[in-house]
Amino acid sequence: MSVGDEPHTASEVTVPEKGLAEVVAAQTAISDIDGKMGILSYCGYDIHDLAQNATFEEVVYLLHHQRLPNQGELDELNEQLTVERDISGFLRDLMGTLAHQTSPMSMLRTSVSAASAYDPDGWDQSAEANYRKAIRLIARAPTLIAYYHRLRSNQEPVPPNEKLPHAANFLAMLIGEEPDQESARALDITLILYADHTMNASTFTARVIASTLADIHSAITGAIAALKGPLHGGANEEAWKMIEEIGEVDRVEPYIKDALARKQKIMGFGHRVYKTEDPRATHLRRLSQELGQRTGEPKWHDVAERVEKVVMDERGLYPNVDFYAATVYHYLGIPTDLMTPIFALARMAGWTAHVREQYADNRLIRPESEYIGPRDQKYVPIEERS
Ligand SMILES: CC(C)(COP(=O)(O)OP(=O)(O)OC[C@H]1O[C@@H](n2cnc3c(N)ncnc32)[C@H](O)[C@@H]1OP(=O)(O)O)[C@@H](O)C(=O)NCCC(=O)NCCS
Repeated sequence: MSVGDEPHTASEVTVPEKGLAEVVAAQTAISDIDGKMGILSYCGYDIHDLAQNATFEEVVYLLHHQRLPNQGELDELNEQLTVERDISGFLRDLMGTLAHQTSPMSMLRTSVSAASAYDPDGWDQSAEANYRKAIRLIARAPTLIAYYHRLRSNQEPVPPNEKLPHAANFLAMLIGEEPDQESARALDITLILYADHTMNASTFTARVIASTLADIHSAITGAIAALKGPLHGGANEEAWKMIEEIGEVDRVEPYIKDALARKQKIMGFGHRVYKTEDPRATHLRRLSQELGQRTGEPKWHDVAERVEKVVMDERGLYPNVDFYAATVYHYLGIPTDLMTPIFALARMAGWTAHVREQYADNRLIRPESEYIGPRDQKYVPIEERS
């Protein structure tokens, strides 16, 4: 037995906090969080600056190239994203089955996995091919979601509109009419806010899969699976269900107090990293308020704001990105069960950037575990076991 193979004793092993809290699992130049100060930045650009000034397409370029594009580079990316929006006949046929039998996140996971077989770059794992695959995944995610939704609700699918940017085109394919500028911009901002978030569970999953040198579609399929859970991406849907169930501002306080007394988690609150306001929530709260006024339905925003106040008073917890995203997406006419898939279509930008970053400087991610079971057991023949 070589020295490296010697079993660790408990005293030699540093056991990380449960859930890998505080463990640095990778180096990245893509995004950064200062949880104490409530700062999120993409490649050095503060999220507030990007949410106010950038488009989602610029952020896609930024995350993948670690710098903002000039006009020519942005035009080229826009062209690539527009050309790649259409989904193949194979995926359209598959959707005919998935639309009536599968939940939206399972559909997205299965479709991305299936798309690997029909990617024009096939099994080419070169850096150039992986960039093209990444752009295709980002371009097609909205089409998959909209196509699925139209089929399941017995409506004609709406083909992608090459004249519209990413967010506006998605709303047009989903709802069947071109959105007004404010709605399209509101969605665009939410996509910017959701585009990346350091080593969250789904990004970590994608990087672990990429570190085995499995293909990018496998890594993104795994990421979507991780995002599906209610403790991660599923929280925006759960937050909306709660706001809808509460229904009226004066019902908020008893509802939240009762839920907390029953040790229930309030979805859309708390965060592993932020110890202060999640900077993304700042923009989503403002968008929620604006959309509430514009749609003549301020009630939902008022309920949400009251929930925020009661949860803060009772537990000192801040809303995270998923809380006001729920009311924003409701105001934009997005069905509840598509709220997490929309998170996924935005995060596709970050996931694919992280996968490419992992490939570019790879080492297999293979942590250790601390064994806590019994030792020195002896095999007992089955007839002698009690
Ligand atoms: C995001 C989240 C998973 C972070 O989890 P974490 O870092 O592992 O923190 P914990 O779940 O251990 O929570 C720490 C304490 O705060 C409480 N807490 C955290 N989030 C809470 C919430 N949303 N509602 C009520 N209590 C909450 C926990 O019950 C725990 O209390 P305890 O120490 O008395 O047991 C957690 O806050 C959560 O489940 N939030 C709701 C789901 C959600 O919105 N997810 C989206 C994240 S962007």
